[in-house]
Formats: sequence, structure tokens, C-alpha cells
Amino acid sequence: MIKPKHIGIIMDGNGRWAKLRGRPRTFGHIKGARIAKKIVTAAAELGIQTLTLYAFSTENWLRPEQEVAFLMNLLGRYLKKETTNLVKENIRFSVIGELDRLPNHLIRAVQSTITATQNCQGMHLVFALSYGSRREIVEAVKDVATRVKNGELDVSAIDENLFASHLSTYPAPDLDLMIRTSGEQRLSNFLLWQSAYSELHFTKTLWPDFDRKEFEQIISDFSFRERRFGRVTEQHEQLTN
Ligand code: IPE
Ligand code: IPE
Ligand code: MG
Repeated sequence: MIKPKHIGIIMDGNGRWAKLRGRPRTFGHIKGARIAKKIVTAAAELGIQTLTLYAFSTENWLRPEQEVAFLMNLLGRYLKKETTNLVKENIRFSVIGELDRLPNHLIRAVQSTITATQNCQGMHLVFALSYGSRREIVEAVKDVATRVKNGELDVSAIDENLFASHLSTYPAPDLDLMIRTSGEQRLSNFLLWQSAYSELHFTKTLWPDFDRKEFEQIISDFSFRERRFGRVTEQHEQLTN
């Protein structure tokens, strides 16, 4: 079975899940964090190389202050609680996004989880925190432009690989599979460059109802998709045989 090397998940639908139960949105976020833990373990056991979870977008800062604060605290608690398990499961943790915009307690939690897991050799788990793909691309453009301005880089040397090496996901491979829960069919500023050729899977399941069984089914469906990368079927068959 051809397995995706890099999976990205837009974990969406916590608020609606809670609303359906007559509970505050925060209740959905708590359940959502539990699901994230289960899916991280499942992905590691299934031999996925890199799992990137969209936990908080640059646009999510626009939510009511109380919800933002709740999410920041929940993320901090999640990391503190999960660090030992990540080490046990040999999972290396890192983040992409604007780390400096996060509250100090969360920056500290992030840094301590990164340090504790830095020698883990198994799956690479990436949290996208205060992440927005357009901002990431603009930052990469600025880095490249600065190198040109300083005479370190010639314009003719700029190609797709060089550009990608300035993105925060480097050196992770491009996304093979992007999953979004809750029925929305949009990318919401998540890994735009890195998903140029990824397979997209949209499920109606709300994130708090997502489970290992559905995750495994999506991965199995992926193995039957024909990724032609612009070529025709016959060329694709030659490439994969
Ligand atoms: C995803 O669930 C979690 C975050 C964006 C942090 P939502 O909070 O977006 O839930 P819905 O989309 O309102 O149901
Ligand atoms: C995307 O979900 C961000 C995360 C899952 C962290 P949103 O719920 O914020 O996306 P929109 O606003 O519906 O596009
Ligand atoms: Mg949402």
C-alpha cells in the first residue's frame, strides 16, 4: 500500500459539535484535543513520517478574546500533558507559525516539548500555531530578497526548490494528503504552497467525532488514488512500476 508521507489535517467543527449538544464552544475544543491525541498516536503507529495539525490560524485571532484565551490555555495544557507520551512514542515535535504572537506560557510549553522530543527518531509532529500560509510565503519572499540584496544569492539561482527551502515547513516533504473535517471544502490559508499536488479529502464528520477507523479508511483510499502530476495514466504506471 502506498502510504502518504506527509499528512495535514484541518481539525474543524469543534464549535458546531458543542452547539449540537447545547454546550459552549469550549466543550468542543476540549473533546477536539482528545481526538488530536488519538490521531497523533494512530498516525505514528501507521508509519506516517510527518503529521501537520492546523491548531490555530492567523485569522483565529479575530475570534472572541475569551475563546482565544481558552484555546491558548488548552494548547499549553495539552503540550505539558503530552510531552512524556510523545517521548515514549518516539515522536519529534515542532511548530510552524508566528510563535512570538503566542502568550509566554504557551511559548515556554512549546519550547520545552521541542527540547524534550528533539532526539526522537519516529514520526515528526508539527503544530501549526498562529499559522497562515500567505504570511509564510511573504516571509520567504523577504528572506530570499534579503539574500539577493546582500549579494549572497543570484536571481538566476531562485527556483522552486530554493524558494521552498525558505518556508517554515522545510525540510519536510510536500503534503501528500490534506484532510479537512466538518464538511467545509476550503483550505483556510493552510499550507498553500506545500499542497500544490496533494490529494484532498473532505469529510462531513465534525472533528470531535473523528476517529482512528475513519483516519485509516482515508489513508487506505489514498493508496488507490492515481497521482499523475500532470502526466497521462500510462506514464504514471511506468513511474510507479
Ligand atoms: C476548529 O473548530 C478549531 C479551531 C479553529 C481552533 P472550530 O472552532 O472552527 O469549530 P466550528 O467550525 O465553529 O464548528
Ligand atoms: C481553520 O478553521 C483553522 C483551524 C482548523 C485551526 P476555521 O474554522 O478557522 O476556518 P474558517 O474560518 O471556517 O475558514
Ligand atoms: Mg471552524
